[in-house]
Amino acid sequence: MRFAGKTAVVTGAASGIGKATALRLASEGATVIAADIDDEAGAELAATSNGKIHYKHCDVCSDSEIKALMDFAAEKTGGIDVLFNNAGAGGAHETIDEIDASSWDRTMDLLLRSVAMGIRHAVPHMKGRAGASIINTASVAALSTGMAPTAYSVAKAGVLHLTKLAAGDLAKHAIRVNAICPGFINTNIFTASLEIAGEKKDMAKGIIQAMSDHAQPIARGGKPEDIAGTVAFLASDDAAFITGTHILVDGGLLIGPRHSWDPESPGLFDAIRALAESN
Ligand code: NAI
Repeated sequence: MRFAGKTAVVTGAASGIGKATALRLASEGATVIAADIDDEAGAELAATSNGKIHYKHCDVCSDSEIKALMDFAAEKTGGIDVLFNNAGAGGAHETIDEIDASSWDRTMDLLLRSVAMGIRHAVPHMKGRAGASIINTASVAALSTGMAPTAYSVAKAGVLHLTKLAAGDLAKHAIRVNAICPGFINTNIFTASLEIAGEKKDMAKGIIQAMSDHAQPIARGGKPEDIAGTVAFLASDDAAFITGTHILVDGGLLIGPRHSWDPESPGLFDAIRALAESN
C-alpha cells in the first residue's frame, strides 16, 4: 500500500496503459482521478473500483479542461501527489512533405502541449506534498527514428526534453519529473489511430498481437501492466533520488528485433502466416 492516503491523476485512463496504471495505483492504496474523453469506458472503470477511482472527462487538447481536471482532483481529495500525463493517440500519419500545419498542431497539442499544461496546472496542487512525482509517457519513438510517424515522434522527443527541463524547474518544490518510453505495448492505440472498426478490427488485433509477441528479444508481447509497474516505481519513494530522466520499457526492442537474436523465433511474416493458418 505504497500510495495509501495519496491522490493520483491519470490521463488517458479509460484504456490500455492509463487504465492498467489507474488500477495498479488504486490497488496500492491511491485515490485515482481517471481522466479521458471516452466517458463510457471511464465511467465503467470507476464503477468497478470500489470507490477508489473517480472518472472526470478531460480532453487534454483543451487547456481549460486540463485546469478543471487538476482543480477537481484537488477539491475532491485535498491535493495531488502523483500525475501521470499519458493520454495519446497516433496523431498525424503524413510524412513531412505532405503534412499540413493544422494536423501538425493537433498532434503537438495532443502529445506535447498536453504534458506541459498538465504539469502547469497540477503543480499548484502538488507543492508541499511529500514525495510528489510526475511521470510522462514518451515512447521508443522519442529515442529512435523509424518507430512511428514523424509528428508523433517529434512530439514524444519533446516530452523527453520537457521532462528534463520540468525536473530542473520543479526540484525547488521537491517535485520529481520522469518519463517512461514504452516499446510495443498491445493496446487499442493501433486500431484507434488507424480508425479500423467492425470485423476488420478483430483481424487487425490478431495481427497486432502476433507482431507484439515477436517484435522484441523478450519472448512475449508488451503489456499495459509492464508500464503500470514502472509508473508505480517512479511514483514511489523507492525512486526518491530519480528525477529528470526516462526509463525504457521495451523488452529490448531498441537493441534489435527478436529474430536477429533468436534463430528459433519466427520473423514477423512467419508469425502472421501462422496466425492466418490457425484461423
Ligand atoms: P490506448 O488507445 O489504449 O489509450 C489511450 C487513451 O487516451 C484512450 O482511452 C483515449 O480515449 C485517450 N485519449 C485520446 N485522446 C485523448 C484526449 N484528447 N484527451 C484525453 N484522453 C484522450 O493507447 P495506449 O497504448 O494505452 O497509449 C497511452 C500512451 O502511451 C500514449 O501517450 C501513447 O502515445 C503511448 N505509447 C504507447 C505505445 C504502445 O505501443 N501502445 C508505445 C509508446 C508510447
